[in-house]
Amino acid sequence: MKFFLDTADIGEIETGLEWGMVDGVTTNPSLIAKQGKPYLPTVREIAELVPGPVSGEVLATDLEGMLEQGRRLAGLADNVVVKVPLGPPGLTAVRRLAAEGIRCNVTLCFSPSQALLAGKAGAAYISPFVGRLDDIAQDGMDLIRQVIAIYSHYDFGTEVLVASARHPVHVVLSAEMGADVITLPFKTLSQLYRHPLTDIGLNQFLSDWETTGRSFDDE
Ligand code: E4P
Repeated sequence: MKFFLDTADIGEIETGLEWGMVDGVTTNPSLIAKQGKPYLPTVREIAELVPGPVSGEVLATDLEGMLEQGRRLAGLADNVVVKVPLGPPGLTAVRRLAAEGIRCNVTLCFSPSQALLAGKAGAAYISPFVGRLDDIAQDGMDLIRQVIAIYSHYDFGTEVLVASARHPVHVVLSAEMGADVITLPFKTLSQLYRHPLTDIGLNQFLSDWETTGRSFDDE
């Protein structure tokens, strides 16, 4: 399963890349707004930094606007994937952009029928939002299970990108289900490394060695 970072924070991306765990990045208008920087230059800066796919979202809501902004986003760098919201204009834009060789990530997916439409439209990625479904007392991971089952019957070529992941359980369940990609806030990526027994065990090893009074280099 590929790990994307869900952020527009350059420091977080640099750290994730240094850890060797970042295969790509997803952004959205809220994440870029948080950085207080201009829109397109921020997507370009991230795309130049990250070797893998970087999703940048259109701000337009009409078809012509989405096409125009999608082409401009895709023109920033070869690895930019155009993020398009679900709905008739969005999925029509996906079909048209795909015909031009532009890869799209269909965002704000909350149902299996929406995912089916995105696959038929030729999306490169479908982004079901698990955390936001959990927020309204539905099981977000059920949606992932359904989308993977539906896509397994067809040849859409659309990757299942688990979005709105909020904690390590989302990550483990996504991996068990065989999702192609999960996009994570930096905090969740960091949490994956941690276990209290790892810390306790390490402290014990080091304090036991310290009682010898010897150093690593002693012969
Ligand atoms: C996906 O690409 C979105 O940017 C993101 O995962 C949304 O997550 P949130 O629901 O935590 O805002």
